[in-house]
Amino acid sequence: MRTLRDITDLRSTLREYRQHDHRIALVPTMGNLHAGHLALVAKARQHADIVVTSLFVNPMQFGPNEDLDAYPRTFTEDQAKLADAGCHVLFAPSNTALYPNGLDAQTRVHVPKVSEGLCGGARPGHFDGVSTVVTLLFNLVQPDVACFGEKDYQQLAVIRKFVRDLHMPIEIIGVPIVRAEDGLALSSRNGYLSAAERAIAPALYRTLCTLRDALERGEPVETVLHQGHQDLKAAGFIPDYLELRDTHLNPVSSATRDAVLLAAAKLGPARLLDNLSVRLP
Ligand code: PAJ
Repeated sequence: MRTLRDITDLRSTLREYRQHDHRIALVPTMGNLHAGHLALVAKARQHADIVVTSLFVNPMQFGPNEDLDAYPRTFTEDQAKLADAGCHVLFAPSNTALYPNGLDAQTRVHVPKVSEGLCGGARPGHFDGVSTVVTLLFNLVQPDVACFGEKDYQQLAVIRKFVRDLHMPIEIIGVPIVRAEDGLALSSRNGYLSAAERAIAPALYRTLCTLRDALERGEPVETVLHQGHQDLKAAGFIPDYLELRDTHLNPVSSATRDAVLLAAAKLGPARLLDNLSVRLP
């Protein structure tokens, strides 16, 4: 596996691969890799000859009071995991390589509507940061396909939307959530949890499962979501949101069958995300 930090090196390496007609996949990450990230790499290998993983803790997607400085950085371990997983190129640029004129001077990509509400409501500007950095990475790597986790469901929807709107010739592949044995969705931020909080954390997934079952039995959405809020609070969470949307993140209507239950909740120092698909009767 080649580790590249420089944009010029990345371009010349990828030019060589392209001259050999290789299909290129991109897996964008912020590092501190776990089995969820590695599932994306495995999926990427099924769809391309060459897998490029980017590792960049993107300052533009963090709010002023968020965890940019505390975000776990484990570069050497990440590099070893990616090499083991069969990744071909690790691209790990510096802030100045990606944003040479600084964040304030940087052109941004804003995706209306689908980036509003849910995590976009709780984290103003977050999805502009995600859309901008992913657009930069797409322009630098020019992948044929790119893989993203369904754990960040709204992020995936935002990325699908700007890829369509900007006519980018990139196939976007969503990868199912990888969970710990007790159901907790794997996340780099789970490392912020104390042992006691880690024991509480799977209650988020269990609550979503209970709510899904109630919704699939035909219980009224408002009642079920209200109960969900109560259950999360009783378990020790501070819910950011708990919502039922259709699979495109529009509000559900009486005609909606395929829906998704989405939650974000604070638990001690961590903000946990999860979602579950629901088949409405
Ligand atoms: P990061 O949180 O490192 O996640 C990188 C990718 O891994 C995302 O597509 C995310 O959805 C996926 N992922 C994380 N946990 C997962 C799990 N348990 N199961 C399946 N997939 C999982 O998401 C980001 O970084 C950034 O916003 C990024 C897209 C890299 C832009 O900076």
